[in-house]
Amino acid sequence: MLAVTHAQISWRNGLAYSEHFQDVYYNSDNGLLESNYVFLQANRLAERWLNYPDQTFTIAETGFGTGLNFLLAAKMWLALAPKAANLHFISAEKYPLNPHDMTTASQQWPELKALSDELISHYPQALQEIKLNLFQGRVQLSLLLGDATCVYRRFRQQAPNSKVDAWFLDGFSPAKNPDMWQASLFQEMALLATPSTSFATFTSASAVRRELIAAGFNAHKQAGFAKKREMLYGHYAGAAHAA
Ligand SMILES: C[S@@+](CC[C@H](N)C(=O)[O-])C[C@H]1O[C@@H](n2cnc3c(N)ncnc32)[C@H](O)[C@@H]1O
Repeated sequence: MLAVTHAQISWRNGLAYSEHFQDVYYNSDNGLLESNYVFLQANRLAERWLNYPDQTFTIAETGFGTGLNFLLAAKMWLALAPKAANLHFISAEKYPLNPHDMTTASQQWPELKALSDELISHYPQALQEIKLNLFQGRVQLSLLLGDATCVYRRFRQQAPNSKVDAWFLDGFSPAKNPDMWQASLFQEMALLATPSTSFATFTSASAVRRELIAAGFNAHKQAGFAKKREMLYGHYAGAAHAA
C-alpha cells in the first residue's frame, strides 16, 4: 500500500481551492476553456492527432489535480485519433485528491460526465499507481505519485526508451509553488524528448522560460487565457540548443 498525502481542498462557489498552495485548481472564468486553450491548443493536438499513425501518443503532465486536463485530452483523442492508435496520459501528482473530492470536482463538468464517471470508478486503482485502461482501451492513464521531478526520473530509469510527445506543465504558479518549477524538472523533460516534443504552460514567468531554454527547448510567448497576459509554449530543439 502506497503512503499517500491527499490534497487539502475547500470548495468555494464550485471552485476547488488548495489550502496547501493557497490557490485555485482552475480558472474562475471558465476552467474548461482555459485548459483547452493552454494545453490542447498550444500543443497543437488536434492537427497532430487527425492523421496520427497507429501508434501510442504520450502526454506527460505535472499535477493531475481534478483530472480536468486529462478528461479534455481524452475526449479530443476519442473524437479525432484513429481507433487503432493509443493515448498514454502520464501525470505526476504529489497531493492527489481523495475520491470524494474527485467526485465533487467531476460534478463541475457535466459535459464530461461520461468520461469522468469512468475515471472515478477506477480512481482508487489509479491511486495505487495501477495503469488504467480506459474508454474501450483507447486511453491509458498512469498516475505517478510524488514530486514531478522525482517521478519522471524514476519513470525514465524504469523505462529507458520512453519518450513524451507533449508536456502539460501545470502545478500552480511558480510564485506559489517554486519547488516544482526547478531546472531539474526541465532537464528530465529534455531526457524524455524527441525533436517533435512540445510543451505548453499557463505561466510566462521569466525564470521558467530561461530554464526551459537552458534545457534545450525553444519557448515562445503568446497571449494567455482571459485576464492572463501571457503563457508559454514550444518544442524541444535539442541539446545543441541548450544554453
Ligand atoms: C493547478 S492544479 C492542477 C490542475 C490539474 N491539471 C487539473 O486538470 O485539475 C496543480 C496540481 O499540481 C500538484 N502539485 C504541486 N506540486 C507538485 C509537485 N512538486 N509534483 C507533482 N505535483 C505537484 C498539486 O497537488 C495540484 O494537484
